Amino acid sequence: MKKTIIANWKMELTLKQSVSLAKKMVTKFKGFSANNVVICPGFVSLEEVSNTLKKTNISLGAQDVAGEEKGAYTGEVSINSLKQVKCKYVIIGHSERRKYFSDDKFVNDKTKEVLSNSNMIPIVCIGESLKERKAGKTNSLLAKQLKKAFKGIKIKKNQKIIVAYEPVWAIGTGKVIKTEDIVKANKKIRDILLKIFSKIIVDNNIDIVYGGSVNEKNAKDFSNLENLDGFLVGGASLNHNKFFTIANSI
Ligand code: PGA
Repeated sequence: MKKTIIANWKMELTLKQSVSLAKKMVTKFKGFSANNVVICPGFVSLEEVSNTLKKTNISLGAQDVAGEEKGAYTGEVSINSLKQVKCKYVIIGHSERRKYFSDDKFVNDKTKEVLSNSNMIPIVCIGESLKERKAGKTNSLLAKQLKKAFKGIKIKKNQKIIVAYEPVWAIGTGKVIKTEDIVKANKKIRDILLKIFSKIIVDNNIDIVYGGSVNEKNAKDFSNLENLDGFLVGGASLNHNKFFTIANSI
């Protein structure tokens, strides 16, 4: 089955830089069909990058979305705006959002909003901090985040969700997680999901990807891991050659 390789460009690029990198990606990935490729630029860049990606094999994603449909929410971006620029994916609850602008309730609201008002695929991020890991709280934290994120949510047969396991201590730090720890965490995530949703839904409608210092050198170490359906890549997605190598490694 195809894996999903997601580029999270965070706030690293301006509009012009985003369009320029998107063009390089389009050229690099021409004819590539081994895996699904998704690019998530900043909000201001979405429309122009969307035009650049038109009729290519690369999909567009947003880095966040409001949990409300419309209204007086200064600075937020609605699901309807994301639809208009043809986003197919949207990241929700990235640890950098959770740290500064969000909490479990927001993550739940946003996930509900995406599933009830669009055909987009939410990429719901979860993961423990180093403190939580050292205190042996990884599993309980993952359970808490997943239960809260999906509280009151039913996934329909034709809907898909991606859960991104991103240990906070591995994001942007170059600290690479051991492959056996990914396998353990993914198994735990799957077990928790099985308590929330039916087996059919977990098997068919939910993918689990890994993110945190994935790069062109270590990506192949993660290929063929059990329950690993792709990557969410930050730093290494800012270079089309590195990102292409990663997309080919799994
Ligand atoms: P990183 O970021 O690849 O730079 O560690 C991953 C992420 O934040 O999604």
